Amino acid sequence: MPSFRAPRGTRDLLPAERAAFARLERIARDLAVRYGYREIETPLFEQAAVFERGIGAVTDVVEKELFRVTPSRGEERERWALRPEATAGICRAYVEHGMQTWPQPVRVSLAGPMFRYDRPQAGRYRQFWQWDVEAIGDPGPAVDAELVELGARFYRDAGLGDVEVRLNSIGDPACRPAYVEELGAYFGRHAGALPELERERLTTNPLRLLDSKEPAMAALVAAAPTMADRLCGPCAEHLAAVRAHLEALGIAYRLEPTLVRGLDYYTRTTFEYYRRGAEGQQQALGGGGRYDGLVELLGGKPTPGIGFALGFDRVVLALEALGAAGAADGGPIAVVVGANPTATAARLALATRLRDEGLAVRADLSARKLGRQLEGAVREGAHFAVILGDELADGAVQLRDLDAASQKLVAVDDLVALLRRKTRDA
Ligand code: HAM
Repeated sequence: MPSFRAPRGTRDLLPAERAAFARLERIARDLAVRYGYREIETPLFEQAAVFERGIGAVTDVVEKELFRVTPSRGEERERWALRPEATAGICRAYVEHGMQTWPQPVRVSLAGPMFRYDRPQAGRYRQFWQWDVEAIGDPGPAVDAELVELGARFYRDAGLGDVEVRLNSIGDPACRPAYVEELGAYFGRHAGALPELERERLTTNPLRLLDSKEPAMAALVAAAPTMADRLCGPCAEHLAAVRAHLEALGIAYRLEPTLVRGLDYYTRTTFEYYRRGAEGQQQALGGGGRYDGLVELLGGKPTPGIGFALGFDRVVLALEALGAAGAADGGPIAVVVGANPTATAARLALATRLRDEGLAVRADLSARKLGRQLEGAVREGAHFAVILGDELADGAVQLRDLDAASQKLVAVDDLVALLRRKTRDA
């Protein structure tokens, strides 16, 4: 007998957990509408080059974590990859569909699964879900603050009141190269003390040493030169203006000079969301930033852009830890039951009629004893049981209020109004 399991690093979202995700999706959709971001969908896989170019060939996300897709036939073999994030695909779509001729910025949002071949652990999966929001075609700084505020609001609405914003600027092509060189020289002087991966990165991507998770790096990183002190005039002005806008919005944030992010496309503003208090190796709940060179890198005209992605998985984990993930579970308002084991057609017919009226109703289609059927209805969290018996011939049923444990005879024609009232109260 084969025994199959979900692939390592993936998991099934069983109905209770799926409901928690669905609740986050609803909050995200509602916020997107209120902030004027329209939904977009891009394919779950793209030409691998979209990610190699867009995200950067020497990032972990591309170098180590890309799920390359190899079809079993065809000319496109090995050219595809599952999307590890949404921004590169969205910018590819922006260029492909000539969105630079639309009113700018193009504000779009996408909620869906992403794939990274990461080492699985709590809060780190190979398939995970993001809410991604992008404003393409606006150089900021006001939109930077709007997005930071939008992300912070999502966590509040979701029920995480303790989320902190961390903010940085990583400069632009005018000022960053000199800084990266200086940083490389700084870490180069300590090359002997660097762990192996960090030593490799010293040549490929010294900036990433700043967010090294190696405890041995902490002191070196703390004493490293910071970008904030080396921003060119326009980048410094931009950061100051983003900060002023955040202050005007009353958004608290912490300046974090080592916040460099794991994707290469960022310029200027970068930000991440963390739960306050839990220090150290903590994972970000979400993050984003400005990517003023990305559209051009993917073949479009020079176009500024900024966005963020918030991971649903980590929010659900945090809510579960607080005992607050319990979303409205979408159970039935009523279950139609009956003592006569052969009268399932009547139960189904009445449930169907109530569903016609928009009510969430289940029919018990089993031949179990009535008592068992009622227990089942209670377990499902239904507020009512509609009990079919001989009175049905006269157009009446017993309506049992499962919350109040009371029961009365009601006309079938009155059922809809009675159940509706309860739905509104619930
Ligand atoms: P990111 O920081 O790579 O940014 O991912 C954003 C969020 O996705 C993370 O903070 C985390 O919550 C979630 N996430 C990432 N990897 C995993 C994983 N393996 N398992 C569970 N959750 C994960 C981006 O993806 C950028 N595209 C954000 C962006 C949009 N920047 C500009 N626009």
